Amino acid sequence: MKPVCFVLGAGAGIGGTVGRRFAAEGYHSVLCRRSDQEGLDKLVSAIRADGGDASGHLLNAADPDVLEERIAATEKDIGPIEVVVFNLGAQIGNRALKDTSYKAFEMGWRLATFALFRTASSICPLMEERGHGTFLVTSATAAVRGNAGQHSHAAAMAGRRMLCQSLNAEFGPRGIHIAHILIDGAVDAPDTLGKMLGPEQFKALRESRGMEHDGLMLPEKIAETYLHLANQHRSTWSHEIDLRSFGDRPWWNH
Ligand SMILES: NC(=O)c1ccc[n+]([C@@H]2O[C@H](COP(=O)([O-])OP(=O)(O)OC[C@H]3O[C@@H](n4cnc5c(N)ncnc54)[C@H](OP(=O)(O)O)[C@@H]3O)[C@@H](O)[C@H]2O)c1
Repeated sequence: MKPVCFVLGAGAGIGGTVGRRFAAEGYHSVLCRRSDQEGLDKLVSAIRADGGDASGHLLNAADPDVLEERIAATEKDIGPIEVVVFNLGAQIGNRALKDTSYKAFEMGWRLATFALFRTASSICPLMEERGHGTFLVTSATAAVRGNAGQHSHAAAMAGRRMLCQSLNAEFGPRGIHIAHILIDGAVDAPDTLGKMLGPEQFKALRESRGMEHDGLMLPEKIAETYLHLANQHRSTWSHEIDLRSFGDRPWWNH
């Protein structure tokens, strides 16, 4: 039976690409995203065409019980989850306080923090019983730095980071590797940044900073770090790591 890599937030950027990389490494990748059946099918087909195993599910992580049910069904029907890639974002763009509704603020927390708590509550006890497992949590600059218009996003992502530290304190000594991965800059991600900017602005950004300019982080390169983290020996675990493009200033420097 293949080990299972469970990806929550499997778009064409980091989530789907990491799922594909783990499938190439012999995992069965379970890919979950909110919408876009076509995009999901395309990813599953590409993995299978490469000789890998994958299955895809549409779900909304903000809905009650769906995460818990999908995790239970994965364990029952596919196999033990060895690696979790928690990749849900909660970016709503820059909004002044007066434009940030209670509802938007709460939804940021539901996706960035509470969904991670729910996922950990379902999976950590199973991993603990088995004595091993890896939890890779994608994060953002907002986890370590508040900024104008980032009320919802920064508060929620800082909560994500602290939750990772707390999970580590409890489950690290029991064999579960939890890594908080700070993505400190823009990613070549059509399903998230691309949609937020709109096609024209995203195209212009890709042409000026992306592709051969290496100014946008490339999901295929990010995926190598996720794989490396999952393969780290427990005598040398990274609990926090940051990634940024070579020309970008780090979060603490601007
Ligand atoms: N893109 C960037 O520039 C950037 C920068 C810094 C940090 N990050 C971090 O990177 C992660 C996202 O990676 P990515 O930007 O490369 O995107 P991605 O992996 O291409 O896509 C993420 C996927 O998450 C899914 N998702 C969002 N809300 C969901 C929900 N409620 N239930 C289920 N699925 C949901 C979306 O599905 P649908 O498309 O189907 O709605 C989307 O396809 C986030 O943790 C974010 O904080 C990204």
